[in-house]
Amino acid sequence: MSAGRPKGHGDPLNHPVVLASNFRGEEGVYTRTHGTAGWIGLEEAVGALEGGRAVAFGSGMAAASAALFALAPKVLVLPTFSYLGVRALVADLVEQARMEVRFVDIADTAAMVAACAGADVVWVETPTNPTLDVADLPAITAAAHAAGAKVVVDSTFATPVCAQPLSDGADVVVHSGTKFIGGHSDLLIGLAVAASDEVYDRLHHARLVNGSTPGALEAFLALRGLRTLPLRMERMQANAVELVARLGAHPHVAEVRYPGFGAMVSFVVAGGADAADAVCRSVELLVPATSLGGVETTIERRQKYAGDAHVPPGLLRMSVGIEHIDDLWADLAHALP
Ligand SMILES: Cc1ncc(COP(=O)(O)O)c(C=O)c1O
Repeated sequence: MSAGRPKGHGDPLNHPVVLASNFRGEEGVYTRTHGTAGWIGLEEAVGALEGGRAVAFGSGMAAASAALFALAPKVLVLPTFSYLGVRALVADLVEQARMEVRFVDIADTAAMVAACAGADVVWVETPTNPTLDVADLPAITAAAHAAGAKVVVDSTFATPVCAQPLSDGADVVVHSGTKFIGGHSDLLIGLAVAASDEVYDRLHHARLVNGSTPGALEAFLALRGLRTLPLRMERMQANAVELVARLGAHPHVAEVRYPGFGAMVSFVVAGGADAADAVCRSVELLVPATSLGGVETTIERRQKYAGDAHVPPGLLRMSVGIEHIDDLWADLAHALP
């Protein structure tokens, strides 16, 4: 993919990191208002993969906030169980009387369809963090549009390699580029990709007035990471599929959750919270850590967070990396009771 590269004869292959907020001239060029070539390169590449026009932000949460700011719903449909950060943001907006929220189980398509009537925005996260539920996107987008609502999809766990929600009818796709797009656990960045020019303009305006801009180095690293995303996903997904099979046959694993694609796997350790915490303390190759999407496998017990109190106490969410499968399994098999 050549999207996001300088195109002129003699140009460098990658946009250099331009550490500048201010530009000489009377045209008033300023980084927050005009962007930089580095941001624009990243936006072009993510836009090309998703089939829309992308705006880069300082984090995934900044992209999610901008989507809500730009679409300003009075009535929002939100998955009951999804990334706790977005639920915390919406809780604040509800408390400030900026919107009303309807919580629906994302995997219950009939309930999602029924909730669209009278809604302004339907927020979808698929697969969900951390229980990996999958939404029927074509059915939900059809019902939302029939009701005059816009659909935003947080596709962080699917990545642009495994899903292109705009082609299933979504109006906006949101990514925490911090995760798989960056892919090396070394940056924070977010992206929101719009299907239409009108929504793109609103997202761009949201970044301008909220000042939620990405950093120059972060945009450079995210675009460099994006170039290897399909290769990383191939290896991570192959590892994930194999681990799902082996975990499923393990006598101390009560349940394995895997949507059939991607690199996120959640499994429930028989014996509950204490047994699952012991696994996180015993692993040596896997990293006990809260973020995900890097080349290294990370693992975390999620129910310890107040926002994830609903998930089984022994559930471990694992972001599968690119290590050798034999090394991964040896570490897990040794750490499991
Ligand atoms: C599904 C999902 N969406 C959004 C975010 C927020 O992204 P960031 O941490 O880059 O703000 C996360 C972070 O964990 C996430 O898992």
